[in-house]
This record gives sequence, structure tokens and C-alpha cells, in this order.
Amino acid sequence: MTTPNTKVECVLNSLIRNYFKGSLLFSVQPEDAELMTWATQRAFLDATVHSELLKRYPVKNEFSKLFFKKLINFLEPYQEVHDDIYEFLCAAMKSESSDMFCYRHYVIGFDLQDIITIKETNNMVVNGTTGMRTWEAALMLADWALCNKNAFLHKNVLELGSGVGFTGITIAKHCKIKSLVLTDCHEDVLKAINENISINFHEYINANDNDMIEEERNSRPNIDAMMLDWNDDDEIPSCLVPDIVIGADIVYDPSILQPLCNVLERLFDRNVELEVYIASVIRNEDTFNDFLRILEKNDLSFCKISLECSKFIDWDYNNEQRCLLKIIRKNKNIILYERLLVSAPVSQPQISTFRHMR
Ligand SMILES: C[S@@+](CC[C@H](N)C(=O)[O-])C[C@H]1O[C@@H](n2cnc3c(N)ncnc32)[C@H](O)[C@@H]1O
Repeated sequence: MTTPNTKVECVLNSLIRNYFKGSLLFSVQPEDAELMTWATQRAFLDATVHSELLKRYPVKNEFSKLFFKKLINFLEPYQEVHDDIYEFLCAAMKSESSDMFCYRHYVIGFDLQDIITIKETNNMVVNGTTGMRTWEAALMLADWALCNKNAFLHKNVLELGSGVGFTGITIAKHCKIKSLVLTDCHEDVLKAINENISINFHEYINANDNDMIEEERNSRPNIDAMMLDWNDDDEIPSCLVPDIVIGADIVYDPSILQPLCNVLERLFDRNVELEVYIASVIRNEDTFNDFLRILEKNDLSFCKISLECSKFIDWDYNNEQRCLLKIIRKNKNIILYERLLVSAPVSQPQISTFRHMR
């Protein structure tokens, strides 16, 4: 099934997407429950708990129990509930699995074959880091990128504070970029990033280069993960010269705003044309405004990109407290011009180019 056409396909698709991403925010209206026949319930089980993907990368057992109980409550008044649904729930109730980690499967658009699988937790903080789960801003930024693929075409992308890596991995899978470096400052987070890279790019990792046609080989982005602590901006390897920097939910701690800005400064020094996109859910306006002030002070200019609704990835667009910033270097055209002067004697055409750029 790709894009759902009929009412029953829509109901099924929505249930599957909610189950995949570990969400209990679903409901089944009475008229939809009427459509959930025995065969449709079977189709739901086949697409979820009986699928190879879910057998290999299961969702959290606790969540499964709650999901199936809720589903049964919706169905029971209107339908004979499939035996296998009861059976699955009983097995889940007996299981004592209490693993902190689970897998979430984020469907891109409606295509149930187009999935980003992320190993993560439900917890806000694990071992002193907030990086072990996918945050709302990560969904928002990835959705915006999928709506603006051209901005990423053949670009070298660097992600700051990647957490478990959802945004970068989604962009690498869908935006025809040249390379992606996912970064974070926490060892456990980097381990999770590497696992998530392996899960989502196993076909790259296992592919034999010789079996691939050249076009295929050239279209594969280079993907890497590395330690990058904003407090150690002087240790950023000199080979790291991105065209685009992305970051989701990284503006939250007043103590790291200046270090974060220092990292951006370093990267702008390496590429004056750099574009930075930072997505935030604003929990504390003072902290966020402080960040904007620090950007200004550091000669960086920003604009807020408006986001109206979600298109390919669900995120909560009803929450007004969010912002996607595009940051560029102020006076970049002057800097470019100055560099031009150093590299070549001024001639008339260069001056006119400069005027045009301004
Ligand atoms: C709220 S999480 C966001 C994770 C991910 N971008 C997302 O939105 O799902 C913030 C991330 O920033 C990272 N971080 C915090 N301080 C950092 C620092 N000084 N240097 C590098 N990364 C840092 C954390 O380890 C964590 O992964």
C-alpha cells in the first residue's frame, strides 16, 4: 500500500503509522471501526507485529500493551475482534521485557515502505544526556528539509547535537546530499547514532562496491559520526567544512549558547557561504532570546522561517512555541569581496559582481 485511497486504507494507514512511531494519540471513530473487518484487522497485524521489520526492531512492549488495549476498546462495540489481536495482547502482558531502549519507525509521507527506524528511549534524560530520544524539533526540521530538498542537493551537511540522529539520517536518505557528519558530545549518544546509521543504511554498509553501477555509487552520501563538543570549538577537525549546518533542539541551556555560537563562527570562517538551520521548541523565551542576542553580537544574521503544517512527517504544528531559524553571516558579501581582492587584482567585472551581490 502506498498512498491510501479508500476510507478503510486511510484508517489502516493511520493506525499502522501510530503503532510504528509508538504513539497512543489515535482514535477510531465508530464508522471507522465498522470498516475494521476481520480481514482488515489481519492486514493491520501483518503490517505491524508480524512484519519482518517489527520482528527485528520491536516497539516497546509497554507501549504495545496499551496500544492493543485501546484498539480493542474501540473495536469491541462494533466488530468481532480478531483472535490474533487478543493473542498478541496476552503474550505482551506475559512478557517481562522492560528494556529501556526500543525502536520507533517513522513513516515518511504515507508510504509504509519508506521508513526511518530509530533506536531510542522514552526518557527525557538518560545518563545525563537529553540525546537518547527524538525530540519534536527534530521531526519539524526533517519535515521542512523534505519540503525543501533543493536546498540540500549535493551539499555537505553537518549536524550539531544530533542525539539519536533522526534529522540527519532522514536528510541523508531523501535529499541527495553529498555527505553527512552527525555529531554530539556524549559517548552513549554517539553509540546510538552509529547503531541508527547501521540500521538505516545497512544496504550501503553491506553492498559490494563492485556490484554497483557507477551512478549508484556516486549518489551515495558519505555518512559519518563524530564527537564534537561545543565547548571545544578549537578542536573541530580542519577537514570539516560544511555547506549546511543543521541542529534540532539545541538551544535550551543558557551555559552552552556562547559555545554553540563559537562553533558556528568557526564554521563560518571556513565557509562564508555556510547556511545554518536550527529548529527549536521554545521552552524558555529568555534563553531563546539570549541566543538571538548572541548571534547578533557575533555578526550573524538570522531570519525565522515560517512553518504552517506538517507534510511528510507528523509533528505538532499547533504548538506556537516553536521556531526554525536560518542563520547566515552578516556582511558575507563584503567578506567575499575582500577575499576576492586578496586572490586577484580588482578589475571592473569583479566590482560589478560585488555591487550586484549587495
Ligand atoms: C534535546 S537533545 C536534541 C537531540 C536531537 N537533535 C533531537 O532533536 O532529537 C540536545 C542534544 O545536544 C547535545 N549537546 C548538549 N550539549 C552539547 C555540547 N556542549 N556539545 C555538543 N552537543 C551537545 C546533547 O548530547 C543532545 O544530544
